[in-house]
Amino acid sequence: MDFEKFCKENCVERRGTGTLKWDSLQEIFGDADLLPLWVADMEIQSPKAVRDALTKRIEHGVFGYGKVEDSYYEAFFNWMRKHHGVDVEKENVRFATGVVGSLYAAVRAYTKEDASVIICPPVYYPFYDAILNTGRKLVTCDLDNHDGHFELDFEKFEKTIEENQVSMFILCSPHNPVCRVWTEEELEKVLDICRRHGVLVLADEIHQDFTYGDHHFVSTAIVKGGEYKDNLVILNAGSKTFNLAGLIHSHVVIYDKKLMETYDAYIKTVGSAEVNIMGVTALEAAYRGGEEWFENVKALICHNYDYMKQEFAREVPEIKITPLEGTYLSWLDLRGCMPGDQVAEFIQKKCHLACDVGEWFSFTGHGFIRINLATDTKNIKTAVERIIANIKAL
Ligand SMILES: Cc1ncc(COP(=O)(O)O)c(C=O)c1O
Repeated sequence: MDFEKFCKENCVERRGTGTLKWDSLQEIFGDADLLPLWVADMEIQSPKAVRDALTKRIEHGVFGYGKVEDSYYEAFFNWMRKHHGVDVEKENVRFATGVVGSLYAAVRAYTKEDASVIICPPVYYPFYDAILNTGRKLVTCDLDNHDGHFELDFEKFEKTIEENQVSMFILCSPHNPVCRVWTEEELEKVLDICRRHGVLVLADEIHQDFTYGDHHFVSTAIVKGGEYKDNLVILNAGSKTFNLAGLIHSHVVIYDKKLMETYDAYIKTVGSAEVNIMGVTALEAAYRGGEEWFENVKALICHNYDYMKQEFAREVPEIKITPLEGTYLSWLDLRGCMPGDQVAEFIQKKCHLACDVGEWFSFTGHGFIRINLATDTKNIKTAVERIIANIKAL
């Protein structure tokens, strides 16, 4: 694949188009002149099929309340079956404006106010917010870092659950930011521990489609032939897969009737939003016509990752790069180059990059940065060059 050509044809200037990633740098980082590699969205235009479908909808010119047609369900279910071997039916699905909003909803719907909810840092920081902002008790079980490969210590996980009388586990699968694609064996252990201790599993599977090489995503829905379906609330979306996050549309998948009743009852108390017709239109088109685009994007992500890895290995081997099993977010350990508590400032003030930094994902995460690889290769090249030059100048 000609990656330069692909970037030229598909990557666009986003600055000045009202984007969180490019246009909020002053507010978030206090410096508008950084190269942004933070927020998990892409500089790559969505598939042509999506843009065509949205254009058609816009030209129709009426933006009244929407209805999710059977054709949408069919496209969604086919994607899930074809790519992940997961069967979903209409009665298992609810729509939401975003996965983060659904984290909050599920925490509120399924746990009492003083309940303990466990997460495994370093992990996507809104998990903390969904627990703390709803007044629940935050319980953490840090992943173990084995030379850049992160694993869960199941004994420690179970002990922490027992000691804190945990009610809910928020699982990130694949795991942002440590790039892990959990194996079925790992998931089975976790789901089994949760089942034995009456812990409901809230599985954020938004990165399900981004896996590489020999790593294959296994949805919690199909672990051990679907054995744990009755203890699961699954959140997924097409927003990462097809770069549609601003269209505010996602799925809540619940197989258990009682759990669904509880969810529906909770949503009634907060007033349900109608679906976003643009989100629905875009995602159906993406599921139907976006597969080739998606494969190209995944190839570009691998290309950017390989480039970064090679350059760092040659020029600054002290940087540890977590193997990219899944997601499009690379996780780098810079503690071999400087004290961990200096990394965030180094990246912003010396390299002029806006990255998510380790301390956002974990209380003890200093020294790590997360780089979003789903961008024009020239942005990755600039970032890598700046990091190498500034480390050499230390
Ligand atoms: C694990 C995870 N969950 C949820 C989200 C955001 O989901 P949404 O935009 O649907 O709220 C992200 C975005 O980066 C993510 O990485």
